[in-house]
Amino acid sequence: MAIEERHSVLHSWSVQADWRAPTVVGGRGARLLLADGGSILDMSSLAECSNLGHQHPRLIEAIRAQAERLCYVSNAWGAQPRAELASMLLERSGFEGGRVFFTLGGADANENAVKIARQASRKPRGAVIARDRSYHGATHLAMALSGDSRTQQQVDAAAFNVQHVPPPYAYRCPFGSANADECGERGAHAVAERIDALGADAVAAVLMEPNAGTNGIVAPDSYWPALRRVTAERGVYLVADEVMSAFGRCGEWFAWQRHGDDARPDMMTLAKGLTGAAVPLGAVVIAQHVAARIEHEMLYTGLTYCGHPLACAAGVAALQAYAEEGLIERSRRLGAQLFADAQRLQSRHPVIGDVRGGHGLFVVLELVQDAPADSGSTHAPLAPWPQTPPALKALVDDAMAAGVSFATRGNLLLLAPPLVIEERELADAIALLDTLLARHFAPSPVPHSAKVPT
Ligand SMILES: Cc1ncc(COP(=O)(O)O)c(C=O)c1O
Repeated sequence: MAIEERHSVLHSWSVQADWRAPTVVGGRGARLLLADGGSILDMSSLAECSNLGHQHPRLIEAIRAQAERLCYVSNAWGAQPRAELASMLLERSGFEGGRVFFTLGGADANENAVKIARQASRKPRGAVIARDRSYHGATHLAMALSGDSRTQQQVDAAAFNVQHVPPPYAYRCPFGSANADECGERGAHAVAERIDALGADAVAAVLMEPNAGTNGIVAPDSYWPALRRVTAERGVYLVADEVMSAFGRCGEWFAWQRHGDDARPDMMTLAKGLTGAAVPLGAVVIAQHVAARIEHEMLYTGLTYCGHPLACAAGVAALQAYAEEGLIERSRRLGAQLFADAQRLQSRHPVIGDVRGGHGLFVVLELVQDAPADSGSTHAPLAPWPQTPPALKALVDDAMAAGVSFATRGNLLLLAPPLVIEERELADAIALLDTLLARHFAPSPVPHSAKVPT
């Protein structure tokens, strides 16, 4: 009999006693294969990371070949796949002449980006400005960077000299603007004001997500270019947390690229899609002018598995797969289609207050108590953030029973399937969502929160 993990493993972001999930024994394309012989269509790329789907043959082959040659050597020594991946990343991002610091995932990429920014800016304990409701990882500094209400009791952001500003959340604009681009401009202005209040000499970096994050906030088009302008004018490094938004997720190799070269950050952090999640790997990509400032100094940081050869070999294969299989363009095309499908759902289901994203295969549906098309929505959330309303939980359970896995966060449904998903599979998932929205959120005079799901 197969061994179960329900009573032996501590599961992240879960109430242990409630954790119940099927065991996955394999994968194919956008599908996960289960121990009981069934399969599940993965509409979230697991943790928005399996951009290349599951068991991509190119990744398996690269890992196998590298394992036969050399499993591990620390980065006190050179390793061929590490060198290859660094130069591919620098070239793809237009950061030629810069350097790459490899990590194990997203949180430690952000931690090390802060260290490097502080060292290069000669502000060893300089302030870092991040956003409310952002997510940058679950190590202590990453939690301090995150404006995540779930964890703010556990960490004193001020002790890490991290400051937060409101996000450019156009649907509920914290600056009171009804216009998305204006909300984006004001969001960047809030960063400028904070830098000015602290004094630019005291600020080491601004660290933010350029497009999407698991918070479901998609910055309006005006935001990132304005943020680049205000940080450059003040001589403060801009770090793009591209952990989730890179590698096609937002329709580009790196999400900031949508805004052109003028919007280039000084550093970016990567993980997730970097290896298609086949092996853990993160990276800090550092522009030439930043790398030059630390070139002749000791770098006081390190990780035993910094640039692990197996992970780097997977990274090289992943980058080749994105390029040679045209997956970045595919994500852009299918993302536009998914966005249009989600808008059609919105016209049929008043519970969908907002649809955003769609630059690539990342679309967010925000659910509200009512969104009458003619009179304008109240925008009243179905449940206070970050709680997930019971009807949405029931919808997700029904979807699983029907063979499709959807990701939720609070009142949000996050649609982020692997970039290799078949068009037929995408259409089937949307059709199922249409049925389930009708089942769990049929319009009625009774507030949705009071409804008993069937
Ligand atoms: C934008 C962003 N940054 C950082 C992280 C943390 O990455 P990891 O879980 O690999 O530490 C995540 C994870 O979801 C993320 O979405």
